[in-house]
Amino acid sequence: MLAVRDVIAAYGPIVALHGISLEVQEGSIVTVLGANGAGKSSTLRAISGLLRPKEGAIEFEGRRIDRMSAEEIVALGISHVPEGRQLFSELTVLENLRLGAYSRFARAHGDGRRVHREDLSPLGRLRHDLFHAATGGIRDAAREIGQYRRRRRDFEAALNQVFEHFPILAERRKQMSGTLSGGEQQMLAIARGLMANPRLLLLDEPSMGLAPMVTQEIFRIIETINRTQGMTILLVEQNASLALDIAHRGYVLETGRIVLADTSENLQKDEAVRRSYLGY
Ligand SMILES: Nc1ncnc2c1ncn2[C@@H]1O[C@H](COP(=O)(O)OP(=O)(O)O)[C@@H](O)[C@H]1O
Ligand SMILES: [Mg+2]
Repeated sequence: MLAVRDVIAAYGPIVALHGISLEVQEGSIVTVLGANGAGKSSTLRAISGLLRPKEGAIEFEGRRIDRMSAEEIVALGISHVPEGRQLFSELTVLENLRLGAYSRFARAHGDGRRVHREDLSPLGRLRHDLFHAATGGIRDAAREIGQYRRRRRDFEAALNQVFEHFPILAERRKQMSGTLSGGEQQMLAIARGLMANPRLLLLDEPSMGLAPMVTQEIFRIIETINRTQGMTILLVEQNASLALDIAHRGYVLETGRIVLADTSENLQKDEAVRRSYLGY
């Protein structure tokens, strides 16, 4: 589904990725392990269009994406849950989830203007529709209302699905996201990524800053999302032990280079991996 080939990427003079290659098979969980500064986030940023590769190629479902904008890449179905969550802390849980669904509609309808209407107040929408009815004809307005209803149903269905995975978010839907616990914020960040209905979910260190019990719960949910929905997931992590427990395959990244690639089972048995990343 995803192939990264010999990608070199840098921040000005600082080369973060020295020619990395990796593959993600549809339906699998693939993990990229590495210490702080190894280039894990940069790898995800290169895939999602936030860091432009200097050399190499990235293919998603047979298409070159390494020259596309981040918006185009999201629209193709790649959702990036960034390191440190990056939620809108002044917005509620529900509002954050609604923002996550934005690209879903952009993709479904290929029309930013209609998506924009969703963000209007009820009065604003009425005004918009009346204006549209007057200028574009009543048929257009009727079609818009139909689309709006479909989008509404689509949104509700997506919401119900993420609430099934994260019931606590349903309880806290009206709460400002800045007042959630760290674990709940991470859940919300993942849920927001899922609202875009991605084909590939990129997760950047979901365990960061969380207590072991909370991390375990989140990893169990990530595994469930993969198993029950067939969601393809690329997970970068410093917590090698937990990541290898749920991933099918793994890569080990050291200072911008892939030094090992194997099944999780083999990596768990590997002497060097045990010593450097598993601590036994
Ligand atoms: N915005 C940036 N500007 C300059 N250097 C950066 C920036 N982000 C990351 N780097 C450097 O790129 C390398 C890889 O970083 P990163 O991909 O964040 O690693 P990881 O996610 O594995 O901790 C590091 O040497 C880091 O200092
Ligand atoms: Mg990082």
